[in-house]
Order: sequence, then structure tokens, then C-alpha cells
Amino acid sequence: MPSLPLEQAKIEDRKKEGIIITLNEQVQARETSTLLECVHLIHSALPELNFDEVDTSISFLGHKFSAPILIDSMTGGTHAATKLNETLARAAAKYELGMGVGSQRAGLKSEALAETYKVVRKAAPEIFAMANIGGAQLADNLSLKDAQKLVEMINADALAVHLNPLQELVQPEGEPRFKGVLNRIKELSSKISVPIIVKEVGAGISKEVALRLIKSGVAAINVSGLGGTSWAGVEQIRAKTSKNMKKAELGEIFWDWGIPTAASLIEVRKAVKVPLIASGGLRNGLDIAKCIVLGANLCGMALPMLKHAAESFESLCEFMEGLQFQLQSAMFLVGAKNAKELSKARHVITGDLLDWNKAGESR
Ligand SMILES: Cc1cc2nc3c(=O)[nH]c(=O)nc-3n(C[C@H](O)[C@H](O)[C@H](O)COP(=O)(O)O)c2cc1C
Repeated sequence: MPSLPLEQAKIEDRKKEGIIITLNEQVQARETSTLLECVHLIHSALPELNFDEVDTSISFLGHKFSAPILIDSMTGGTHAATKLNETLARAAAKYELGMGVGSQRAGLKSEALAETYKVVRKAAPEIFAMANIGGAQLADNLSLKDAQKLVEMINADALAVHLNPLQELVQPEGEPRFKGVLNRIKELSSKISVPIIVKEVGAGISKEVALRLIKSGVAAINVSGLGGTSWAGVEQIRAKTSKNMKKAELGEIFWDWGIPTAASLIEVRKAVKVPLIASGGLRNGLDIAKCIVLGANLCGMALPMLKHAAESFESLCEFMEGLQFQLQSAMFLVGAKNAKELSKARHVITGDLLDWNKAGESR
């Protein structure tokens, strides 16, 4: 394999560490949660449905999915990711689901690394696939031509722009430079050939941010809230290893920073009408059902998908079949025969999530 210039080699190392740490260390929220445990769907003792009639399929940005399940943006940019991306894509194709690749900056700089993303389209020619780039890279003058190249690299159906100010702050080599990001998002929304989806990476989107994004023309928002993978946590571990104690301390303090996924989803849904993706700490089919009830159109999962893909294709398929079965069961038990009916299912909100809601409404 030809050697890579220093900057690319550093990006590749960082991507590899991201996979190794998330697969092997405890990197999830510690003292807090998604608050989905405060959402209670009302049981129907009389569903007037046969289980087999329940249809979990949905349509998102014009694409059909067999269930509202997305493998959220994760990896690429290191040779360690090729097999993982291929496994994820094969499973997404098998079950007619969608997936995102990880930030593609590395793929712009090296054809060899571009292959670590392209494998997704080769393995899954038909799925809904999302390209990915960071807001910080947009602000750093990523050209429109390069943004279009990201889309073409995997023949993407949408381009996800991730906003990760917390991660950039804690990351030892991070670039917490977000001035001008909104203008660049606006420019991409009007000039790139596919819809723009803006996402967080585990700290959530507020209603104020959502409204600014909508004014800038984004097609959809992925709230990716607090309660699952903590990127302050991942970067805290990297900072500790590289003996950057100032960053390590910051990561420790902000490990659980953010808006819990359920709270973020509720306030963003009240504020905007565009399609929404819920992600951040979703771990089973009941979590997915609850997010659809709270207003999500699609539900993303990252870390659990990666863990199963690292084990084997079969393990990932078993996990996906379980998710679908759990979702279908939740729908049956509330008497919803399709996703539209599920979205209207009666529910009760208690505890901390109720407090978040009240606080959000009082402003
Ligand atoms: C190994 C790994 C790599 C990730 N890389 C990216 C990325 O490059 N771009 C991005 O938008 N999000 C990235 N994410 C964030 C996820 O898309 C998601 O927002 C977050 O992990 C919360 O979901 P989870 O709790 O199900 O993991 C990554 C997540 C993981 C676990």
C-alpha cells in the first residue's frame, strides 16, 4: 500500500482509534439517558388487528424503507472500515433499510481511502445512502466542487452535515471553528444535487437551532441527542492516552453534556415540519416506536450496528430482525397497523422528560 502524506495518515489513525475505542471501551452516557424511559405508550387490550397485518414500512425523502431504521453515519477513511462498511451495507440492502458513511474528508485526499466509502455502493446499489461531512470542514472552505465529489463518491441520496462542537472541543487535535457554518449550509442546500440533512453526533439539536437550519433550506434534521454514544467520552479517552490532561478533564466534565434525545425530538418536532431522524441512544424496537410517536420519521442507530457488524454479518442480521420484530410488536400492542397510525398513538410523558418539556415551553 503506498504511504500517505502526514495529514492523511493522522486522519486515518484517528478514524481507526474511533472504531477501536467505541468497540472496546464504555463510551455511552453515564449519569443521564435519552429520557425515552419517560415515554409510555398506552397499551391496547383490543388491538383489532392480526400481528401479521402490521406494516412497519415507511417512506423517507422519497425512498421506501421496510422499517424506519437507519444505520447512522459512522465510518470510512481507514482501511479498518472497509469490511465494516461492506457488512453494514449488505445488511441494509437485505432488509431494505438505509445507511450513512462517516465523514468523507479523508476520501477527498486519497483515492485509496475513497475506496473505504465506495464499498457501500458496490455492496448495496439500491439503498438510501448518505454522504457525510463536518460543519467545521465546511467553515474551513470546503469547496462546492468537493462537496459534490463527496456525494458522487458513493452516489449518495442525501448529504449529511454533522455539527459536533463538543467533540471538536474535547478532541486533542480538534478544530472548534464554527463561524460561518450556517451560511455554508445555506449555500450547499441551494447548490448541491441532493437534499441536505443536518445532524448532531450525540448532543442534540435545540428548537432554536432547528429553526435556523430550516431557514437555511435543509431538507431534514437528525437530532442525534444525548443518551447513547458520548463523543466527549471517546475524545476524553483519546486525550488521556495522548497525555493531554486539559482536554481529558474537559471530556470528563462534559461527558454527559447535551439535550436528551427524547427532549430534543419533542421540541424540534414542535418547531419545524421537515422530516426528522431520531438518533442517539436508541437501542431496541420499542425505542424506535416511541420516537415515531414523538414525531420522528426515521430512527438511526450507530454504535449497536457497529458492534454487530464487527462480530459478523449474521450477528447484524439477527439484530436487525430483532429490531423489526420489537417494533412490529409495539405497533400491534398499541393497535397501530402502520407507521402513520403509530405516529398518532396516545402516550403519556412522565418524570424528567415532563420537566424538560415544561421548561422548553416556558421560554
Ligand atoms: C464509531 C462511530 C463513528 C462515528 N462517526 C461519525 C461521522 O463520521 N459523522 C457523523 O455525522 N456521525 C458520526 N458518528 C455519530 C453517529 O452517527 C450518531 O450520531 C451517534 O453515535 C449517536 O448514536 P448512537 O448512540 O446510536 O451511537 C459516529 C458514531 C460512531 C459510533
